[in-house]
Amino acid sequence: MKITKICCIGAGYVGGPTMAVIAEKCPHIKVTVVDLNEKRIAAWNDENVDNIPVYEPGLGEIVGKARGKNLFFSTEVDKAIDEAELIFISVNTPTKTYGTGKGMAADLKYIELCARQIARVSKTDKIIVEKSTLPVRTAEAIKSILDNTGNGVQFQILSNPEFLAEGTAVEDLLSPDRVLIGGETSPEGQKAIEALVDVYANWVPRERILKTNVWSSELSKLTANAFLAQRVSSINAISELCEKTEANVSEVAKAIGMDSRIGSKFLKASVGFGGSCFQKDILNLVYISKAFGLNEVADYWEQVIIMNDHQKRRFSRNIVQTLYNTVSGKKITFLGWAFKKDTNDTRESAAIYVADDLINEQATIGLFDPKVPYQQVLSDLDYLETRSSVENQKYIKSFDNPYEACKDAHAIAILTEWDEFKDYDWQRIYDNMQKPAFVFDGRNLLDAAKMKEIGFVYQAIGS
Ligand code: UDX
Ligand code: UDX
Ligand code: ADP
Repeated sequence: MKITKICCIGAGYVGGPTMAVIAEKCPHIKVTVVDLNEKRIAAWNDENVDNIPVYEPGLGEIVGKARGKNLFFSTEVDKAIDEAELIFISVNTPTKTYGTGKGMAADLKYIELCARQIARVSKTDKIIVEKSTLPVRTAEAIKSILDNTGNGVQFQILSNPEFLAEGTAVEDLLSPDRVLIGGETSPEGQKAIEALVDVYANWVPRERILKTNVWSSELSKLTANAFLAQRVSSINAISELCEKTEANVSEVAKAIGMDSRIGSKFLKASVGFGGSCFQKDILNLVYISKAFGLNEVADYWEQVIIMNDHQKRRFSRNIVQTLYNTVSGKKITFLGWAFKKDTNDTRESAAIYVADDLINEQATIGLFDPKVPYQQVLSDLDYLETRSSVENQKYIKSFDNPYEACKDAHAIAILTEWDEFKDYDWQRIYDNMQKPAFVFDGRNLLDAAKMKEIGFVYQAIGS
């Protein structure tokens, strides 16, 4: 099948950038991204590409070039489904907040709604591609819905997990380490795989396009994220040990990373990993393992999350202890709220949990993040339901300027590794703070020697 029209359901962090790159690289394919959320679609269509809803370096430029030519953002979901030969499902799959599997299993209601909608609307054969990260065997559920509620047309389901990392989405999409496509082993399944391979082959070398069965593809995505998260928890576990000994975690990371079997990437000790994927995917892995009675497997992976929660908690606890066991009424300034640099995404960011802890201790939080709006910060805290929205607003204040944010603070906590934090005039910040002036660097971002020379009481992770 030659693909001429693609539809993507879900205009989020995955769907938006992925479709923009496909459109740019495949001028012969019409790509339509649809979403129920009208505000989000309007933002994707904003004349000024600085206002598109996902901040990613280089994305605005690509969207600006392709939009209106072969890239469209729309709320007309049915129409886009009807036209397309190939449909990506890229809707959110949050962790369940109710019922069986609460706090563990993925909530598949949005996926199911999509499948039912596709079944209802489709009048011609289609290839359906799972792009959202999903528990193993979701493809089976989608197929069952499509085959049992459809109009008798043929559907092929492919799993094509996205490995892009936020902040480098465009780069990752333009030159991926690999593209993974899972499909049925039947001749029809293989034909569907080839159709999707031909789309990616417009810019990805064919030897980097892996073909597997559906289940391997689904499980590979969960496993990749679990391994990555495990590396962060492993180095974070060592960071705590470093703090008790005279070892330095950065030195240890460097030393082990030079072993080519270990590798140097993803060994940065931090205040804890965040993001929409790691925790959710591990919880998924734990949940399915338990469902199969594999308790040791489940416990093994769950420990990665336990360690991460501990890392966040001990960061806030250390701030309280260091500030003479009380932060009540003290201003503590957060630099950074996003879960990592170069993104406006805050999902599962460590900052949320550290702030929640400190507010419980009645600290007042001053905040500066270059990309995250105050409304988002409040909604992240409100989501925890620890206290009322009004109270959250009382305890956390956001500033447009880092120097204002740090003025009169007793301590600064660095939660995100934004590059610009390194270049601030730290002497000026020091002069305007309460003394002793504490800095808790949750990202090991700043130069310890320089900070101490200025006069800060400076503490980093793992040293
Ligand atoms: C190990 C370290 O590799 C080495 O750097 C250190 O100095 C001493 O300990 P060694 O015990 O000789 O070396 O063997 P290694 O190749 O690391 O294998 C250890 C065990 O892990 C073996 O039983 C091996 O079969 C097993 N293994 C290794 C696997 O099961 N799977 C793998 O992918 C790799
Ligand atoms: C991750 C995977 O990298 C990506 O392949 C997958 O498609 C989605 O999930 P993402 O969540 O965007 O991507 O960011 P990532 O760069 O992996 O970082 C995740 C979290 O781990 C961040 O909070 C980051 O700060 C933290 N981290 C990462 C560390 O604390 N130390 C590290 O060494 C690396
Ligand atoms: P991700 O990080 O996986 O891209 P996001 O939450 O950023 O997740 O984006 C998912 C998008 O999918 C949201 O904008 C949401 O409105 C959209 N969505 C969810 N269900 C549907 C549906 N049935 N039809 C269209 N869009 C949907």
